[in-house]
This record gives sequence, C-alpha cells and structure tokens, in this order.
Amino acid sequence: MNPYLILVNKTHRLPEDWLDRIELADARNALNEEFRLEKETMEQFYALRKKLLEDGMEIEVESAYRSVQEQETLWAEFEKEYGAAYCQDYVAVPGYSEHHLGLAVDICFIRDGEVLDDETSGKDLLFAKVHTALPEYGFILRYLPGKEKITGYAYEPWHLRYVGAQAAREIAAKGIVLEEFLEQ
Ligand code: DAL
Ligand code: ZN
Repeated sequence: MNPYLILVNKTHRLPEDWLDRIELADARNALNEEFRLEKETMEQFYALRKKLLEDGMEIEVESAYRSVQEQETLWAEFEKEYGAAYCQDYVAVPGYSEHHLGLAVDICFIRDGEVLDDETSGKDLLFAKVHTALPEYGFILRYLPGKEKITGYAYEPWHLRYVGAQAAREIAAKGIVLEEFLEQ
C-alpha cells in the first residue's frame, strides 16, 4: 500500500505515530523562510518548481509542515481576523490538518522577488498552469471546486498534496478528490 495515500480530513485525525513513520526534510524558500516537508515530497516539490521556472513561472512555499501547535496558532489568528465561519471553510481544526503530515504545501507566486498578492490579475491562469503540471510530480489539487461537500473545505487553488505519481495521475484523470479515490 502506498504510504502517501494516508487520509487526514475533518473526520480522520492525524495518526499519533505519524512523525515516526516519515522523514522530514528542512529547506529555505526564496524569501529565506524555513519550512519542512516529508523527504520525497520535498524532492518532488523542487522538481515541480524547477519545471515551472523553465516555463517562466516562479512558485514558492507559503506553508508546508505544521505541528498541531502551529495549527492552533494559525486557527486563532484566522478566527480573530476572518471569523469562525471562514475557518470552517478554509482552516483545519488542529490535529485534523494535512499540513501535519508534511505532505501538503501551500504555494504562492513570486515575480521580481515579490509575492504576488490576491488582487494580482492573471493569477487564475498561473494556478491553472501549475495544476496541469502536478500529476507528473505526484501532487494533486486537494480541495477541488464542486467537491466541497466531500472534502469539507472550500476550493483552495494553492493547496497541493503529495500522493505519488501513479495515484496523482489517476485522481487527476478522473477529476476526483482523495476521499473518492480511497473509496473505490
Ligand atoms: N487549509 C487546510 C484545510 C488546512 O488548514 O489544513
Ligand atoms: Zn494548505
């Protein structure tokens, strides 16, 4: 069984022994911020990043591995700024986030050394190009539009999840989410 197919969602908590099962690798992004990802996920993320750079697009890690405690801080910050309803749609309850696995990465775009903000036009096109490239590198887009009832979250074009290339190709070809794939 592919260990990267682990399910963590609103009803499946992070396994207690998860960090004993994987190796977390450390890196720094182009903005000199430290982040961690599971080792193979890190390698494949950098391979994806390199390919996109060759296509003239620079993606960077905005958020990667998060401990349960870091998720608690994040939840509290978002609740204060955007309210509980927003959190329900966009932020996992601590202990129930894929970011605890080291297999999820939130990306942003860099242009001329600066992060593109949400108002930047053309971002949808950039995301579409990234999404097309994902399966070859073993990533899926985890929270798809139209699948909110299944995933429990709103569409997140920035949240990539590593599952390995074979599963990623099948999931992308079928246009399904991880929950549906695992039920097959
Ligand atoms: N944004 C995703 C759902 C998380 O917090 O894990
Ligand atoms: Zn995320």
